[in-house]
Amino acid sequence: MKNKFQINLSETLSFSRDELYSKKSFKFDMTLLSKQWLFLDHASNYNREQTAKTYYIFSHKILVKKLKNVFSCIILSKNLVEQNCVNPSILNEFRFYAHKKAIIIKEIEGLLFVTFNAQDAIDFDVIEQDITPLMRWHGIQKAKVAFKKSYSIQANWKSVTENLLECYHCYANHPEMCSVAIHPTITSTDSYKHVMTGVEVWKKWQSSTDAMGYPLKERTNIDYLSPQFHVIYRSPINVQHKSHSRDKSLLAPLMGSYKESDYGETFGYIGPLTLFSMPNDYAYVLRVNPMSNCKTVVDLCWLVDEKAEENKDFKLDKLIWYWDSTVAQDKIAIERAHKGTSSRFYSPGKYTKLEEESARFAIWYRKFRSDGHAL
Ligand SMILES: [Fe+2]
Repeated sequence: MKNKFQINLSETLSFSRDELYSKKSFKFDMTLLSKQWLFLDHASNYNREQTAKTYYIFSHKILVKKLKNVFSCIILSKNLVEQNCVNPSILNEFRFYAHKKAIIIKEIEGLLFVTFNAQDAIDFDVIEQDITPLMRWHGIQKAKVAFKKSYSIQANWKSVTENLLECYHCYANHPEMCSVAIHPTITSTDSYKHVMTGVEVWKKWQSSTDAMGYPLKERTNIDYLSPQFHVIYRSPINVQHKSHSRDKSLLAPLMGSYKESDYGETFGYIGPLTLFSMPNDYAYVLRVNPMSNCKTVVDLCWLVDEKAEENKDFKLDKLIWYWDSTVAQDKIAIERAHKGTSSRFYSPGKYTKLEEESARFAIWYRKFRSDGHAL
């Protein structure tokens, strides 16, 4: 079927000031995002008979309870509204909306996902079917939370997601990541020599991982026609790099079905607000958590095998080094971009070839706006 959104990615423009900062846009965004599923927590935090925890999601304090294996959730209160940001009445509206429509939680292999609009929530079955086999292989259900950390970023959530979906900025911004990972040779440059180096490593890794009987999953791109896009694939970390460590060694005991390291990781995103990275020995999940039109919190969560003990089986500073340094650097880059995009003299530019996933995300977002689906 011919679709007007089947357009040339290289012609797609980055987000406008109106899309990023207007009250109307943020109101639309909250309605859109309330129907999406986003990562909440790991189920191991509810391993007693009855437990309750609170979270701040979308600037609201919510209470989650688990009783006899059933999760329930209510909104407790509206959090602070940032000065100079969105009009409080917009958040009040969202609050009432959320009260009317139940908040529901779904567990997939120990990962808890939440949606704020049960009645109009996106069908999660396709995503669940696609991610379950690899989550199970990684033993995510038998994991526990090793560490959580949050960064507050002064920027619109779309600027955060746009940044997370591309690695054009990696060589300039992420020395730690680039000292470990091979993927920047493909995702951060179009230099033929670099790309071929990365492709060669990728091919050899696929052969050896396949020979070990471990799962392979080809990389795909964001489907901008999907109500909630998702991407999940396996890739090499680098030659002889067993995990995201400085010295190439494992950071924690192997998880799930791994009997030895295959030097790879599973990577992907579930909608615009959840990103994950899973080497053989730990898992990392990032939640983009919009608070207002110009403030976004990113909540980071590191998982290890449930039997792994801190200081005996893993060192926390080493475990978080790779992604913590990367997100700290992204915060600086995103806030600089925010300053630029909030200037009255800013006008959107075209995404480059190395930012195609960000362009797909922008198309996905605009499709909802033009269809009026979320309003
Ligand atoms: Fe980055």
